Amino acid sequence: MRLLGKTAIVTGGGGGIGRAAAIRFAKEGAQVVVADIDANIGEETVSLIHEIGGQALFVNTDVSDSQQVKELIQLTTRQFEGLNILFNNAGISNSEVRSVDLSEEEWDRVVDINLKGVFLGIKYAVPELIKAGGGSIINTSSLLGLKGQKFVSAYNASKAGVILLTQNAALEYGKYNIRVNAIAPGVIDTKIIDNWKQNERKWPIISRANALRRIGTPAEVANAVLFLASEEASFITGATLSVDGGGLTF
Ligand SMILES: NC(=O)c1ccc[n+]([C@@H]2O[C@H](COP(=O)([O-])OP(=O)(O)OC[C@H]3O[C@@H](n4cnc5c(N)ncnc54)[C@H](O)[C@@H]3O)[C@@H](O)[C@H]2O)c1
Repeated sequence: MRLLGKTAIVTGGGGGIGRAAAIRFAKEGAQVVVADIDANIGEETVSLIHEIGGQALFVNTDVSDSQQVKELIQLTTRQFEGLNILFNNAGISNSEVRSVDLSEEEWDRVVDINLKGVFLGIKYAVPELIKAGGGSIINTSSLLGLKGQKFVSAYNASKAGVILLTQNAALEYGKYNIRVNAIAPGVIDTKIIDNWKQNERKWPIISRANALRRIGTPAEVANAVLFLASEEASFITGATLSVDGGGLTF
């Protein structure tokens, strides 16, 4: 088992990619703290992990709230005596409108969750990872953090920010044996793309806009996250790993 004895937090652990990663981590022997703003789906992930004999705990968390993130880290270290892996994955999309039509409130919400949420995770987890002698942080960016797309200004900007925040943290904490990497998924089959799926005109195009001509599964993203979390990636930090079926090259 690749994560035996490790403690991992997965934010957005009730959703598609977060759930797949939480289950994958648990199968590899990690104790997993599932953090999500939605208690129902978060608890469901924990039940799924228990069903396969894994160890997991749900902590209701809004990643954009400093106090809640601080408490998430405190609860985790108290429960499992330390922290080794943080998957900063919670995220939301924005309504597809031009920047001029996007409300300031929505801009703030998207950036607060997608970018500030990652900053808060790093801010409160790093001291614990230092105590543990090192660790791995994986941040969820997006293909849309590497490439502009019309009508998703806040999402584009927040996910691009995640990539440089990742490099920044890699540089700041490398000397403590903390590796910080990002993943940049393409179109993955989760709830976040429900709106796109309902668009009969655009979906056939969007769903085949990569070299492999198909969308990805949460499990395929979880495999990449597991690799970055594990010792197999011991000399990889500051990187952004595309998991997009070749979407960036398309
Ligand atoms: N699915 C895709 O095509 C795709 C592509 C690129 C990047 N991503 C990113 O992957 C990550 C996971 O998304 P997903 O595709 O699994 O979608 P999802 O909607 O299934 O999962 C997102 C999860 O985040 C949780 N969440 C939302 N706001 C939160 C908050 N403030 N605090 C804590 N949890 C919160 C939701 O409850 C949900 O469980 C997101 O950051 C998303 O932007 C997804």
